[in-house]
Amino acid sequence: MLKNEIKVAIAGVGTIASGLVQGITFFEEHQDKRKNLLHPSIGRFEAQDIKIVAAFDVDSTKVGKDIAKAIFAPINSTPKFIEVEDTGVIVNKGPVKDGLSDHLKKVITIADGEEVNVVEKLKETKADVLVCAIPTGAEEAVIAYAQAALEAEIAFINCTPTTIACEPSWARKFKKANVCLIGDDLQSQAGGTVLHKGFLDVLKEQGVTIKDTYQLDVAGGLETLNTLDDDRKQYKREVKERTLKQSFKNDINLASGTSDYLEFLGNRRIGHFWIRGEGFMGMPVKIDMRLETLDGPNGAATLIDVIRATKVAINRAGSGPISSICAYGFKAPPVFSDRHNAHKWFNEYLEGIRTE
Ligand SMILES: NC(=O)c1ccc[n+]([C@@H]2O[C@H](COP(=O)([O-])OP(=O)(O)OC[C@H]3O[C@@H](n4cnc5c(N)ncnc54)[C@H](O)[C@@H]3O)[C@@H](O)[C@H]2O)c1
Repeated sequence: MLKNEIKVAIAGVGTIASGLVQGITFFEEHQDKRKNLLHPSIGRFEAQDIKIVAAFDVDSTKVGKDIAKAIFAPINSTPKFIEVEDTGVIVNKGPVKDGLSDHLKKVITIADGEEVNVVEKLKETKADVLVCAIPTGAEEAVIAYAQAALEAEIAFINCTPTTIACEPSWARKFKKANVCLIGDDLQSQAGGTVLHKGFLDVLKEQGVTIKDTYQLDVAGGLETLNTLDDDRKQYKREVKERTLKQSFKNDINLASGTSDYLEFLGNRRIGHFWIRGEGFMGMPVKIDMRLETLDGPNGAATLIDVIRATKVAINRAGSGPISSICAYGFKAPPVFSDRHNAHKWFNEYLEGIRTE
């Protein structure tokens, strides 16, 4: 075993999981590209110290395969950046529950066979942390994984918008069990929400009154197909809009979310930003922009930092939600902060200046 190894179990072998597994391999081979990580080192941990020890999915094209192959199942749209050798980690069938929306059920066949006992698997593999990266709106399934992490007494990182870290009853349970809880809804490295919030904050700091704004995207990955189900789309929108509204006391007209699924875009996400405000003496201020990114690496970049910071928290016997890590890496953290402060808290936590 490597001295600095961080043992990670992951639920959901989709877009983010592919970015994560490829990212770990990438940094084993390309130390020179570490500058593209938000934090090249965290504590004493490098990206390649992350080791996947267990994986759970429900899709028949992934369950039973080595995770190195499952991440390249044709249904996953994250492109191949690097060859990944077999890891020996076979994808288990997790609890299906409400994992698949009606739209996902049309393209995913649930794997045959029994669902694995997640708690036993987490204990057997001695995972440090369970990352939950299953579709938006799969509330019962997310809760099942959160409960499994709690019972196995390992940290839980919730990449999904389901309210776990922000839910006081979950926070209390994790705190009582001396287990770290991190979430909710991962924030991508160059994601629509973080950039939109950044533009709005800068304008606000400069004394511009924001009147109306939207950030709407179209994309072609599985998650966007999933959010074609109206209740799931609404779920994601509410989280994004709540994040943005936190910064504004005045009433602004605001919309944020994914507007449509375009299969041919694959892993690409194209975001449109529009902002209208008023400056000095009512001067009109307008921004109209377009952003193009790839979902897989965009989400995994932040996740690689969050996993390493969570291991720092585990080593410090942290328990319950760790506010600085949540505020830094998530759209809906238990304690909200602007981007500047969130980065400051995160760095202070890593330096040991902050306790959570
Ligand atoms: N950049 C990003 O991709 C990004 C950024 C922020 C937040 N998120 C959030 O992260 C989550 C995952 O995103 P993604 O793009 O990787 O999704 P994805 O749709 O590409 O992958 C989800 C995977 O979960 C599997 N799954 C479904 N039900 C399951 C169950 N019950 N147990 C185990 N696996 C199950 C699916 O088969 C699929 O392989 C979503 O909730 C999304 O909102 C993603």
